[in-house]
Amino acid sequence: MAVVVVGSLITDIISYVERLPQPGETIRGKSLFIGCGGKGANQCVAAAKLGAECTMIGKLGPVNDPLSRIHIEALTKNGVQRRLFHSSQDQTGSAIIMVDKDAANAMTSVLGANADLKPDEIDSVAESIQGADVLVAALGIPLKSTIVALKKGRKHGIKIIFNAAPAASNLPSEVYQLSSVFCVNESEAEMLTGEKVDSIESADRSAQILQERGCKVVLITLGSRGAYLKDEANNGILIAAPPVKAVDTTGAGDSFIGALAYYMAYYPKLPLQTMVERSCQVAAFSVQKPGTQISFPTKEELPEELFL
Ligand code: RIB
Ligand code: NA
Repeated sequence: MAVVVVGSLITDIISYVERLPQPGETIRGKSLFIGCGGKGANQCVAAAKLGAECTMIGKLGPVNDPLSRIHIEALTKNGVQRRLFHSSQDQTGSAIIMVDKDAANAMTSVLGANADLKPDEIDSVAESIQGADVLVAALGIPLKSTIVALKKGRKHGIKIIFNAAPAASNLPSEVYQLSSVFCVNESEAEMLTGEKVDSIESADRSAQILQERGCKVVLITLGSRGAYLKDEANNGILIAAPPVKAVDTTGAGDSFIGALAYYMAYYPKLPLQTMVERSCQVAAFSVQKPGTQISFPTKEELPEELFL
């Protein structure tokens, strides 16, 4: 199994509005979309849509809960192997998202069953981590469970992409040390390092702090501007994203990470910079369509040169 993701599954309820409402205000939305999201599931489906063999490890609400079923259907449709657990008392995670005409969003996310994924459960599916090329993990599930997965990955020499999202203000040092690639966006980087990321220089300073905590490669995603990569030799480079007209950026970071996992698993000889450039192109495709997983491109939809 090439890519294994340990992370969250969330049902996204997205309404498209002219502008975001003020407290106490009701505004009329243009359309509503209900689909599968959650950072972990998004990253997994993003890699699977590019053609990666993927396994998703995570936790949903009760088996017969309709919100659980749509995730199982979406993963199956995208050819993802499932190692999923069900909580009997907690609902499937869900998020209420509003996207305005400029593609800016506001979100409330309820973790539900994701918060109940236990270290023992991760242990019980360790065999699926063992055979992977790349392990992807993010926050949004209990950190102690994530750490069990990271340790398994390290034990078997698997490349680990760790995405410190949703934002956290501090992480134990072993999380940095276990990551091969540590990936955050600007605000997540600021929260962890205290360094406001608003220029190449500040991105570099923030990446430097993260590297000093023990991670090898640091990637700071910068939205429409692309990503800042600081490699193992401490060289930093800004990788630009192609200019596109965004309609919905929800899950764009996940599309990027899923693509990176795909390239690390299937094109291990490509320079990391090229992998990041290509992943930026994949994510740029996703923001031009509404929705999260549904907006991620398949290999067939992308230019052939991304697969040379
Ligand atoms: O990263 C995007 C995801 O974050 C959405 O799919 C939503 O579920 C939130 O958790
Ligand atoms: Na999108």
